[in-house]
Amino acid sequence: MTPADRIADLRTRIRYHEERYYVDDAPEISDAEFDALMRELRALEAAHPEHADPDSPTLRVGGRPAEGFATVEHLEPLLSLDNAYSLEDLRDFHARLCRALDRPEDSALTYVAELKIDGLSIALTYEDGRLRRGVTRGDGVRGEDVTSNIRGLRSVPLTLNGSVPARMEVRGEVYFPRADFLRVNEGREAEGEPLFANPRNAAAGTIRTLDPAVVRRRGLRVFVYQIVLPPGAAPVTDTHADVLRTLRAWGLPVETHWHSCEGIEAVAAFCETWREARHKLPFETDGVVIKLDDLALRASLGATAKFPRWATAFKFPAEQARTRLLRIGVKVGRTGAVTPYAELEPVQLGGTTVQLATLHNEQEVSRRDIRPGDLVLVEKGGDIIPKVIGPVLEARPDPPPEPWRMPDLCPACGAPLVKPEEEVVWRCENASCAARIRRGLQHFASRRAMNIEGLGEERVEQLVSAGLVRTFADVYRLTAEQLAALERMGPKSAANLVAEVDKSKTVDVWRVLHGLGIRHVGEGAARALARAFGTMAALRAATVEQIQSVDEIGPVVARSVRAFLDEAPNAAMIDDMAAQGVVMVDVHADAGAAPGPWAGWTFVLTGTLASRTREEAAADIERRGGKVSGSVSRKTRYVVAGADAGSKLDRARTLGVPVLDEAQFEALIMTVSE
Ligand code: IVH
Repeated sequence: MTPADRIADLRTRIRYHEERYYVDDAPEISDAEFDALMRELRALEAAHPEHADPDSPTLRVGGRPAEGFATVEHLEPLLSLDNAYSLEDLRDFHARLCRALDRPEDSALTYVAELKIDGLSIALTYEDGRLRRGVTRGDGVRGEDVTSNIRGLRSVPLTLNGSVPARMEVRGEVYFPRADFLRVNEGREAEGEPLFANPRNAAAGTIRTLDPAVVRRRGLRVFVYQIVLPPGAAPVTDTHADVLRTLRAWGLPVETHWHSCEGIEAVAAFCETWREARHKLPFETDGVVIKLDDLALRASLGATAKFPRWATAFKFPAEQARTRLLRIGVKVGRTGAVTPYAELEPVQLGGTTVQLATLHNEQEVSRRDIRPGDLVLVEKGGDIIPKVIGPVLEARPDPPPEPWRMPDLCPACGAPLVKPEEEVVWRCENASCAARIRRGLQHFASRRAMNIEGLGEERVEQLVSAGLVRTFADVYRLTAEQLAALERMGPKSAANLVAEVDKSKTVDVWRVLHGLGIRHVGEGAARALARAFGTMAALRAATVEQIQSVDEIGPVVARSVRAFLDEAPNAAMIDDMAAQGVVMVDVHADAGAAPGPWAGWTFVLTGTLASRTREEAAADIERRGGKVSGSVSRKTRYVVAGADAGSKLDRARTLGVPVLDEAQFEALIMTVSE
């Protein structure tokens, strides 16, 4: 296989696996295997710039728009949807359609019912099957060109499968899966950044972020549901159901629960089914969109200035409750951010008992005029995090409670709280504030970081109060005797905790990177850094530019990582951890091979190389994490063929293993450092 063939092959494979993962939710290979394909493609493209293609999967993350987003006009306006708030409204919608179509009201029209995705509309332009543009709804006529961000969403194919119209707009919704939304908010909370109120706001904020790397990492997804063709173009199908099937066949993500319904009662039944079941979906849905299936009938109905006559949105009622706000507390995050929260009289909401709710920040509390003692309206923001909407003013006690004010001093250490003029978040800037240390340590030990079982909130509290732990490295000095002396800790639990701590010495380096609590470094960024650098030592030796060149890492994260590592106390603590036996490497690298960019790759050398001996070539490969083998198999990544290559070259050709000549090998070496 020539490098050009291998490049083409890799691009097809990568898209195939992206589609299995992001569109079908049914991955066939592991993340590590996927990363290896990407790594190989990237290396080959660097070695063969003549085969560059702007639609290569390696080029999903492009540059950021320098001046914000340009606005562009949609092919035709993006309309909104009329709403139906009850089954009665739904039947009225059907009656209106029948009248407009001159049919009896009991006609059984065919509808397609789709889940209404709680995200924001997006229009994707494809030309000759290649993604050219992604534009937000904007005012419906003109939207913002967010192509640089859309390209980073792996559920969006850069190229489509099969034969497609020469030019079209595919419309749909960008949204946050619940799990990613929670992860992003957890990260923001830990960083002391304001939380997103719900997945929709998070999606809206993210898609307009100027750093494509941030967008990519956050896990936004897309579902599409409409094709818009230029005037005069031949329609693709006759029915909406076929539009959905066609979009899917082209490789685009279509939400799978849509249903063809004969008659409006079947639609009503579909809506009823999802009223409760929707809570089990991995994404938020706030209703059902009902669309007439027959596209010719649709065209005859047309649209009002705001919405099409052939569709409506059945909205599920928001889940709200009233309860008493007992107290407003404040909590201190590990970066020192101090945020208010509401303590509520327990109330049932969306199937759970709610006792605590977020209040975001001081500004929000005063903007909504929320006062302790008020009867308040509580809602599940995006059905996930309960939030206080505002006071029920008619029920405000007389005399009215005092407005709430942020305390002047940190509730944990008594240091004065500070807030720069332009920010909304108050902070405790005392780095040795016990609350900060506690939160930092809880995060360090948590399941998605060092995963030290038994080192939960209560235990951390004890260890910090007893002065046994001041830095993460101190955790590794704890002895069973010290622990056994703590309250509610017997010799057995003490020994278990020591064993757990010991076990955490050999976790993957991404866990360490995540656990350290470097600003802006959540789990996604930590994993990306670990994959790219392999070891903490390699990361520590990297420049900001090298860090930033990692896929998924933007300039803000890169600078933050560098700044953290450059701070003397942090550097000393990492050294201290290493001295305590914490092994900071990517354990996904092949056993026996040094981790590096070629981890998992096997090379076979044949013939004579002009520039280096076999041993030198082998050393070059091994220093980059690869292995050298004496025989060619299907698993061989590359055969490097020098002059007078022998039977190994023939065997490589028979098996279709890529062959590099000396110049190509040289180029591949130049693309990565050891
Ligand atoms: S169809 C002209 N289908 O809901 C018809 N919209 O409240 C265009 N939405 O602006 C919309 N899921 O952003 C359609 N399955 C779905 C949808 C959907 C979510 C959004 C869309 C629309 C808004 C109206």
